[in-house]
Amino acid sequence: MNIIYYAAGVQPEIWLDAFHHYLPDAQIRRWQEGDDAPADYALVWKPPAAMLRGRRDLKAIFILGAGVDAILQLGDALPANVPLIRVDDAGMGVQMAEYVSHAVLRYFRRFDEYEVQQNAQLWRPLPAYDKAEFSIGLLGLGVLGNRIIDGLREFGFPLFGWSRSPKNIDGVSCYSGADGLDAFLRATQVLVLILPLTTDTENLIDATQLAKLKSGAYIINVARGGHIVEADLLSMVQSGHIAGATLDVFREEPLALTHPFWQEKRIRITPHISALTVRKESAKQIAEKIAALERGEVVVGVVDQSKGY
Ligand code: NAP
Ligand code: GLV
Repeated sequence: MNIIYYAAGVQPEIWLDAFHHYLPDAQIRRWQEGDDAPADYALVWKPPAAMLRGRRDLKAIFILGAGVDAILQLGDALPANVPLIRVDDAGMGVQMAEYVSHAVLRYFRRFDEYEVQQNAQLWRPLPAYDKAEFSIGLLGLGVLGNRIIDGLREFGFPLFGWSRSPKNIDGVSCYSGADGLDAFLRATQVLVLILPLTTDTENLIDATQLAKLKSGAYIINVARGGHIVEADLLSMVQSGHIAGATLDVFREEPLALTHPFWQEKRIRITPHISALTVRKESAKQIAEKIAALERGEVVVGVVDQSKGY
């Protein structure tokens, strides 16, 4: 079996060692410009169009992450009828649960305000928030959204969720579709974004939608920067309607040094680390899926290109 590999911005050995371990009989080669020798599978993260254009010999293209927005931008360069398969959790879910739980608890237990008080050497206990009012709303109830919910469940916050298709999740008030968005946002104190970036979800959260959140709401974005109109978020934070935001993703990454988010103390910034791809676990998952495909079986994580995720 021949496999071509390309991952932008990562040291190739880290992935290749894991793939050689889990696919010991495969011939795996790093793809380079001009390589059009036959291949059965491609393993990619942000590949150039030239790698995949016209490659009808591929049985599947495996994306080395959960989000598929970057690869779908290749458009016509993607060979028709070759399935795109994304990483399905493989150790990302627990990281998302850790990140979001940390941010939620930081706001609920007012650690953000105690940090400010400490800087002013101020000893002043603040009143506790009412947990029944501290509702958490997740935009996105897929693989990672569900894992975040499992992590939060323990704490007893009211939980809300929004997805494209209707859902029934124990202990979560579920809303769906464009018609459900308004009621979902009005019920939400902490908005967590864990959606794919598609034409339907780009710029979804603008000033109009932010205004529907409860006053003093918080934003946690672990999905993609393109979901939020950044200037609208900044002005809503400055007005106080949004009390704080924890952002892991941005329209332009790395975030430019001149970006005003750096100067706003109520905005917390992390460099797209909320869920890193765990190489060993992902390589193992991909190897198992290749084996299943070779046996003619169906695998999970196949991208529906008409939906964009
Ligand atoms: P997933 O399993 O495909 O789940 C996506 C969820 O979003 C589903 O519940 C889906 O609804 C919902 N959705 C999609 N389009 C929608 C729309 N137009 N309206 C309402 N709901 C919509 O994806 P996942 O594995 O949970 O990953 C989610 C995203 O997280 C990825 O696409 C990626 O961008 C991001 N991510 C970020 C990091 C990071 O480090 N920051 C790491 C990994 C992933 P249905 O259930 O009805 O289909
Ligand atoms: C990371 O952002 C991913 O989509 O896996």
